[in-house]
Amino acid sequence: MWVWSKLSGIQWMDAWEERFYGNPNAVINVLKGGKSTRVEVYAETEQEVLDIQKQFGGSVRKLVHKNWAAMVEPDRPPIKIRSKMIVTQKRDAEARAELEKEFPGRHIVQIPADMAFGTGDHATTSNCLRFLVDVASELKKNGQRWDILDLGCGSGVLAIAARMLGADSGLALDFDPAAVTVAQRNVELNGQKFIDIGQADVLNWEPSRKYRVVVANLFSTVLQQAFPTIVESLEDDGYLIISGILKEQWPETQECAEEEGLVFSDVLTRGKWVSARARLG
Ligand SMILES: C[S@@+](CC[C@H](N)C(=O)[O-])C[C@H]1O[C@@H](n2cnc3c(N)ncnc32)[C@H](O)[C@@H]1O
Repeated sequence: MWVWSKLSGIQWMDAWEERFYGNPNAVINVLKGGKSTRVEVYAETEQEVLDIQKQFGGSVRKLVHKNWAAMVEPDRPPIKIRSKMIVTQKRDAEARAELEKEFPGRHIVQIPADMAFGTGDHATTSNCLRFLVDVASELKKNGQRWDILDLGCGSGVLAIAARMLGADSGLALDFDPAAVTVAQRNVELNGQKFIDIGQADVLNWEPSRKYRVVVANLFSTVLQQAFPTIVESLEDDGYLIISGILKEQWPETQECAEEEGLVFSDVLTRGKWVSARARLG
């Protein structure tokens, strides 16, 4: 296990967030005094960290820890989504049974810390989960069947949650092969069927059909380029959930989305992150 690290001024924080957004192995800490940050990226191979060093400078060192997933993502209490869902990092059946007993009637999603973004604790993921709960209950009230397209699926948490909330089937895509493997594992762990996981770059991907619900937790610059594809994959009366947008990038992102005919009904800001719900106008 290897780590690349670099110290830089606090004014570069957002630029680092942008560069490593969605990378579950990147850690950005504000140092004491609040004037500087330490950016670290953990990797399995020396080559990965050397590639980053070549691009950004900084230093590289070898770590002795074996259980580095647990080191990057420490154990934390389960996350509650509205009164409908619990997301836990625990993978065993006993933990599931305990949570079912403690929170009767709620869906339990198990996403252990791994080499993919999306254990539920990042604001961008939990906002998507909240929106998904709301959309699912609207669709249920209207007696509508639905399916889910999850673009930039990471751990697969959103597609898995959507199936538990009533989606008939799902397609989850990520360009990172490690994320695809982890998402497949999580689909099995959560006893889900009818979720296809695929490796694809959203920016080169062409949808072969439309979906009632599309969720895309991708950085704003990716979203802005992907809106035409996203719109093409969304049913006329479908629901879109987007996340991963830094507050200062929201106006530009909103404008790009509106140019493609999207109309926003809810915009949620948590900390520096914006998530939003839209439909086709
Ligand atoms: C912030 S994570 C979101 C993970 C999960 N959906 C969640 O909400 O927690 C973004 C994911 O999108 C993937 N990603 C980024 N750009 C992409 C692209 N152009 N095509 C496909 N996947 C992409 C990353 O590999 C990462 O797994």
